[in-house]
Amino acid sequence: MDSISFSVEGLQVLISGGCGGIGGAFAKAFLAHGAQVIVTDLQAPPEALLEAGARYAHLDVTSDEAVEALAKTIDRLDVLIHCAGKLSRWEEHKPEVFRNIVDIHLFGNVRLAAAFRPHLKQTRGCMINIASMYSYFGAPQVPAYASAKTAIVGLTKSLALAYAEDGIRVNAIAPGWIATDISRGGRENPEFNEKLMARLPNKRWADPEELAGTALFLASPASSLINGVTIPVDGGYTSS
Ligand SMILES: NC(=O)c1ccc[n+]([C@@H]2O[C@H](COP(=O)([O-])OP(=O)(O)OC[C@H]3O[C@@H](n4cnc5c(N)ncnc54)[C@H](O)[C@@H]3O)[C@@H](O)[C@H]2O)c1
Repeated sequence: MDSISFSVEGLQVLISGGCGGIGGAFAKAFLAHGAQVIVTDLQAPPEALLEAGARYAHLDVTSDEAVEALAKTIDRLDVLIHCAGKLSRWEEHKPEVFRNIVDIHLFGNVRLAAAFRPHLKQTRGCMINIASMYSYFGAPQVPAYASAKTAIVGLTKSLALAYAEDGIRVNAIAPGWIATDISRGGRENPEFNEKLMARLPNKRWADPEELAGTALFLASPASSLINGVTIPVDGGYTSS
């Protein structure tokens, strides 16, 4: 290789949960670096994302039909990122709630992967899945979330092996403690925060933008040899 390229310019990127905190930060970062971005979500896009040049499509990742129908409308895809997510503190001990949370995080990931594999095969593209600190640690308040996030590490390895024959790389990011809507309950709980800060080396909740560099890297040619891994981006939490 003559030179190393960190460029994502001209890539077509699709982000589920793209109107949320992390998905939105990824969308802005890819757009700022010359990629084209389609954000999909249950909720409407913030005006700022549309002004930055993102396209929007409504998508519920728990629907097989909706995911397949969306895939039919998209000609080309280089990067697929599954950012849609939800948790229900303590409610996830109920089987029907557990099922819904796993459906969004884990089956949503599987649905998107299956529907867009042909697109990614054409471009020799890549997938970026979203894991969590709860991929590594138990979470009594969100057992479905933790189960799905643990499974995403295994799914990432398995799809990386299965899709290698198509030239598709599959990796994941395990975010640490990021200030978005999904983490609001934890951020606003003094007891939870005290325990967290005692262990967290950088002693602060992070901005979603602080994850974007890793996503850009994983989508760029500079990471061509990285496949099947989950990268913690966590201010040192998993090392402590
Ligand atoms: N914020 C954190 O600290 C943190 C840490 C680890 C992992 N994560 C993961 O990062 C991802 C993004 O979360 P975030 O922090 O941006 O939270 P967020 O709540 O800001 O965004 C989540 C988005 O997913 C969308 N969504 C929910 N259900 C959906 C469905 N059925 N179909 C389509 N979209 C749906 C929501 O509308 C929302 O826009 C999630 O997978 C989350 O589990 C977040």
